[in-house]
Amino acid sequence: MSIAAPSTDVAPWWRRGVVYQVYIRSFADGSGDGTGDIAGLRSRLNYLAALGVDAIWITPWYPSPLHDGGYDVADYRDICARFGTLAEAESLIDEAHELGIKVLIDLVPNHTSVEHRWFQAALSAEPGSAERDRYIFRRGKGPDGSEPPSNWRSVFGGPAWSRVDDGDWYLHLFDVTQPDLNWENSEVTEEFLDIFAFWLDRGVDGMRVDVAHGLVKDLTFPDIVKSAEVLTSEQLANHPHWDRDGVHDIIRSWRSLLDRYDDRMMVAEAWVHPERLPLYLRPDEYHQSFNFDLLDTDWDASQFTATIESSAGAAADVGATTTWVLSNHDVMRHATRYGLPTATPWRRWLLDGPHDILDALLGARRARAAILLTLSLPGAAYLYQGEELGLPEVWDLPEDVLDDPTWVLSEHKVKGRDGCRVPIPWSSSGPSFGFGSAKPWLPQPAGFGAISVEAQDDDPSSMLNLYRTALALRKKWFTEDEDLEMFDVGSDVVAFTRGSGARCLLNMGDTPVCIDDVEGTVLLSSVRVETSIEGHLELPANAAVWLAPIRTDS
Ligand code: NOJ
Repeated sequence: MSIAAPSTDVAPWWRRGVVYQVYIRSFADGSGDGTGDIAGLRSRLNYLAALGVDAIWITPWYPSPLHDGGYDVADYRDICARFGTLAEAESLIDEAHELGIKVLIDLVPNHTSVEHRWFQAALSAEPGSAERDRYIFRRGKGPDGSEPPSNWRSVFGGPAWSRVDDGDWYLHLFDVTQPDLNWENSEVTEEFLDIFAFWLDRGVDGMRVDVAHGLVKDLTFPDIVKSAEVLTSEQLANHPHWDRDGVHDIIRSWRSLLDRYDDRMMVAEAWVHPERLPLYLRPDEYHQSFNFDLLDTDWDASQFTATIESSAGAAADVGATTTWVLSNHDVMRHATRYGLPTATPWRRWLLDGPHDILDALLGARRARAAILLTLSLPGAAYLYQGEELGLPEVWDLPEDVLDDPTWVLSEHKVKGRDGCRVPIPWSSSGPSFGFGSAKPWLPQPAGFGAISVEAQDDDPSSMLNLYRTALALRKKWFTEDEDLEMFDVGSDVVAFTRGSGARCLLNMGDTPVCIDDVEGTVLLSSVRVETSIEGHLELPANAAVWLAPIRTDS
């Protein structure tokens, strides 16, 4: 298969950019209170510049009770005291720009925190009041209104409705502390345009928009048919609270605001059916959307090839580029995912195991191979902090430190996302491995010292140096255009050529593959590969290689 996407001479940076996700609570703690912050991030900007990323995406940094790690925002125009101040945020944006790093922030428009002044005003006001109309308050069902208005469930577990003292119910598709806003209310739409402008005026280069497929709800609140585990296209197009057509009017209003500024972008976190995703990428809507398909694909060459072709093809069809994501703050780290037997349901495995089926070395080896794959594909790549160190999921955190609301709301049936959010180890020894001077908000395992930045810095074979080298080579070989030509060298291998003539071959099988008549030279490989002067290349199991079309010293 060959995909030749529209290619302009000067493509906007984000089409082929590498964005590094900073989960701010866990990145670096400058203030010494055990929680990561802006001071810590500023002190590590040089590290990120040397790593070679184009941009950072900072997870929510606003005032928040942190019931959902900051995705419960109490004030969208300020910075959480634990993370720093607005002045520090402005300095960070300037310093990142001086280093050539763009800054994306996280906007959370589907819901606020219960501590937001609007929700506090709604609680003090009467049922039916203008204050309540900014959210979704309703009377309950049943003779005394004691049943929720619908059977909708929270994503984190339990009902999506909670009741206040005067008998009204409010909708929260996530935690009880995250009331959903009413996007039919013009005060809400105007408020968010103003919030966008507030941050664009402070120089941010764009926004990652949380729950981009949410926002608009069917305010007749039909019950959801429980049996519909696999939704048909028809049901998808008319789901009562996800991916409703009305959301596109909202997106267009944001886009026309962004277009008044130079070179800004927004990326959608939209969990929608693949056939509906292009709607979000129309020319007057999002610039880009996360594509989580590869993250959900088993370690299998034919499945990977199919996902690559469908993702790249669907984006190219609407003139966009896709994004490649292996990990983020909501899923098990891929160095661990890839160490589990194929098709292990990892969310369940976190809780129930059996934990002895994990092959951590295999996971790390595959993670090295996977990054060579994603960094050589056309489109943007989103990296999650710590993956460049090969950090594993910390699956054995003690239950009493678990912080993710999922743990409680699922009644301890889903362990949650804390294991991928453990603070970053910067040094090989010392308290919190250089994260900060205080006890970190989540405990780090003893093994983190051996895979810290310090431990890997000077080791040419480390994961960190693989990322550094790959990011530097990517700029030369894989970002000139968006062409992709898949070719066949056996059922275990994903193989393609890019417009520059450089190629990536990933052997996903458990035995080496011998490839004849290899033209070109090895640019980089995830493990040592052997080539012969006759032009044979032996690609080891679970390994990837980049080949340049001609002999080169680079
Ligand atoms: C998606 C975010 O990535 C996740 O961390 C958060 O819990 C939900 N949206 C709700 O805001």
